[in-house]
Amino acid sequence: MAAPDLAQVAALERASYAFPWNDQIFSDCLRVGYHCMVVETPAGVAGYAVLSMGAGEAHVLNLCIEQALRRHGIGRDLLRAVLVHARDRGIRDAFLEVRRSNTSAISLYQSFGFECVGQRRGYYQAHDGREDAMVFRLELGALADG
Ligand SMILES: CC(C)(COP(=O)(O)OP(=O)(O)OC[C@H]1O[C@@H](n2cnc3c(N)ncnc32)[C@H](O)[C@@H]1OP(=O)(O)O)[C@@H](O)C(=O)NCCC(=O)NCCS
Repeated sequence: MAAPDLAQVAALERASYAFPWNDQIFSDCLRVGYHCMVVETPAGVAGYAVLSMGAGEAHVLNLCIEQALRRHGIGRDLLRAVLVHARDRGIRDAFLEVRRSNTSAISLYQSFGFECVGQRRGYYQAHDGREDAMVFRLELGALADG
């Protein structure tokens, strides 16, 4: 991901989440040096992932695939790519938060071996109040190359 991708990334974000990140958050992620990847197609950006790393831990902060292209293995490939990036830089553990209701993402994470290690009550905005986050962790040593 680079600055010229940001308009498409932010548009995809708005189309994908009820409570999207704003454009500034993506530019801040680039500015501070987070590992930000895009999936490029001839039609433009079709997905992206944002990963922070530090103190031996990686955090998957965002992972999103354009709706029309979902369920073709692109999310799995992109998630693997960012996790391999972290593992190959000596990071031991990856963490992420996910809405309790986000069953597709939870299945994806569990298929990698991510395990739920906690929850954050009321972490997310929701239309009817707040929603809990489930916190998942994966030991990157257990990550298959795929
Ligand atoms: C979660 C997301 C990134 C998955 O991307 P994707 O490209 O569709 O995922 P893949 O095709 O690689 O699917 C990999 C696995 O994830 C799980 N999965 C993905 N979509 C699913 C669905 N709709 N229902 C159940 N399981 C699903 C399955 O285990 C799937 O493996 P399978 O197809 O062999 O059964 C995508 O649905 C998305 O962008 N959602 C909106 C943004 C979001 O919620 N991001 C996660 C924030 S924590």
